[in-house]
Amino acid sequence: MLKDLFIGLSKNQLLNTAAKKYGLKLGAQHVVAGTNVKETIKSIKELNAQGISCTVDNLGEFVYKKEEATEAKEQILEVIEAIHTHEVDAHISLKPSQLGLDIEYEFCLANLKEIVEKASIYNIFINFDMEDYDRLQPSFDLLETLSKDFSNIGTVIQSYFFRAEDDIQKYKNYRLRIVKGAYKEPEEYAYQNKKDIDENYIKLIEWHLLNGKFTSIATHDHIVINHVKEFVKANNIPNDKFEFQMLYGFRTDLQLTLAKEGYNFCVYVPFGKDWYGYFMRRLAERPQNLNLVVKQVFTKKTNSIIVLSAGAFLLGRASKRK
Ligand code: FDA
Repeated sequence: MLKDLFIGLSKNQLLNTAAKKYGLKLGAQHVVAGTNVKETIKSIKELNAQGISCTVDNLGEFVYKKEEATEAKEQILEVIEAIHTHEVDAHISLKPSQLGLDIEYEFCLANLKEIVEKASIYNIFINFDMEDYDRLQPSFDLLETLSKDFSNIGTVIQSYFFRAEDDIQKYKNYRLRIVKGAYKEPEEYAYQNKKDIDENYIKLIEWHLLNGKFTSIATHDHIVINHVKEFVKANNIPNDKFEFQMLYGFRTDLQLTLAKEGYNFCVYVPFGKDWYGYFMRRLAERPQNLNLVVKQVFTKKTNSIIVLSAGAFLLGRASKRK
């Protein structure tokens, strides 16, 4: 139920717009690296110093105007330039909807082309994050079109989708990140049961690892991580063929342990003013993350009234929507 509540809240455009004005609040600063490129590069350098690479995501949701998509593109181009200039170990993750997929396919394609082209000059990899079901096929189409001219691109396979098995075969020649899936999807298209999702997840990871193409195993699930460690050992899969990925601010001890054990480790580093939807989805995945919010309320007395009122407002609106 909490999952549905936070997923609902993540889609609330009004609250998203309000959140942009107030900077990182409600504990979001624990899971979002900064609001601008300068702060983000600082965070990346700190992670790099610990032997951890980064994939940088310029947060953005509800992009329905061309100006907003163009602004997002400019911001991503700035990050690419900064990665190159500061010589940090990082690549880009982006969401096609932020670059105009919900506005016009060709417009989005042109924006993506500009980004991928610039990144290819600097030899920087671009990952197309996967969003909800409606955007799945158009995102694959964008990837296929651009891969006719560029090789520095890859995408994500979400194990909750029934079609993931076909997709992983179809895109087996790409560098792929494999995840369980973060959105609420209908029974028609997706497994609803955690056990089914987890089983499919392991199966997809094993397939892609055996394929020999680079695999990013993006999870905080230690059971999956331990399974992968055993699997690569048993199948002589070298460390340079895969990496583990986790989100910025999550299970940081385990992140460091894996890096110290000699595994490639990459942290997904979100940044920007548009943090609200991302943060709500993290709360949906793991309501225990609410303790970040609670801590914030009790440590910053000056903000507590505002934060609590906002919380009540959020919960009130959500229950009306359901
Ligand atoms: P899950 O939430 O299933 O938890 C399994 C177990 O792991 C828990 O029961 C607990 O024991 C342990 N655990 C999990 N989190 C913990 C924590 N914070 N502290 C302690 N223990 C914890 N999704 C998507 O749809 N499209 C995308 O493009 C991406 N991209 C992406 C990139 C990266 C780097 C990551 C890590 C994730 C994504 N995701 C995503 C999100 C993904 O689909 C998924 O929703 C979340 O990772 C949550 O699932 P997990 O596999 O992490 O574990």
